[in-house]
Amino acid sequence: MEGLRGSYVVVTGGSRGIGRAAALAFAREGAAGVAVLYRQDRSAAEETVAELRSLGAGESFCVRADVSRWEEVEAAARLVGGRFPHVNVLVNNAGVLQVGGVEETSLDEWRRTIDVNLTGAFLAVKAFLPLLRRAPWAAVVNVSSIAGQTGNVVAGIAYAASKAGLIGFTKRLAVELAGEGIRVNAVAPTFVETDMTARWLSTPEGRERVRGLHPLGIILKPEDVAEAILFLADPRRARGITGHVLSVNAGRYT
Ligand SMILES: NC(=O)c1ccc[n+]([C@@H]2O[C@H](COP(=O)([O-])OP(=O)(O)OC[C@H]3O[C@@H](n4cnc5c(N)ncnc54)[C@H](O)[C@@H]3O)[C@@H](O)[C@H]2O)c1
Repeated sequence: MEGLRGSYVVVTGGSRGIGRAAALAFAREGAAGVAVLYRQDRSAAEETVAELRSLGAGESFCVRADVSRWEEVEAAARLVGGRFPHVNVLVNNAGVLQVGGVEETSLDEWRRTIDVNLTGAFLAVKAFLPLLRRAPWAAVVNVSSIAGQTGNVVAGIAYAASKAGLIGFTKRLAVELAGEGIRVNAVAPTFVETDMTARWLSTPEGRERVRGLHPLGIILKPEDVAEAILFLADPRRARGITGHVLSVNAGRYT
């Protein structure tokens, strides 16, 4: 088995942050093509595609899809199916942050967060499963969060519930697809320096506070999470791993 070389990859929310870093990491490992699903920012998605192609993933392209909308995810899967022979790796990365506890969170905000972060992964798996099944090997990697493992974080109630839900979804789906050889895993990162966390990392004091929360004393970069995603997706390195949640947390367990 050649590992990730020649693979076809789909990354939701792939135009920036962790999704973009993961897409580029797959290209560096020799992926044949990465389909970058994006919601809004076409120019950022196109820039990512240009970089993917320059790294050798020549069949890469981008397609607009809001992961919370079945029609859009299904249309994206049809488009991907017309351009890729199959999909080896689906990375469910698209997500939105929500802050605030029960009393500050409106029902709309709750539903929107669950719709994108949890239902989005469900819809993407549903839409891309025929293409994953067509591949000689396949893997799904879901991007959960430390917020789904511990309540002691700044993220809000709906965000924590959506990311914990993603862990249950990962474990159940791993069992469901194991008989077909499709592995399903998740990463659970702590604070990562992206647009999502910019509000906490924009000042030296904020950065110091975030470093102080983590025994390793570092602030994670999107590339640190991309490496974990790559590992879990790799059919050689992670051949025996499914239903697992890999914490990328700089030593923070509370
Ligand atoms: N940054 C962190 O500290 C951190 C920590 C743990 C987990 N995560 C998770 O990592 C993932 C990536 O986040 P990031 O940190 O790169 O932040 P980001 O805000 O830079 O990226 C989020 C991506 O998701 C996309 N997205 C949002 N809603 C969407 C929708 N409805 N349909 C399609 N795409 C949509 C955005 O367009 C963007 O590309 C998210 O699931 C996030 O919850 C982030």
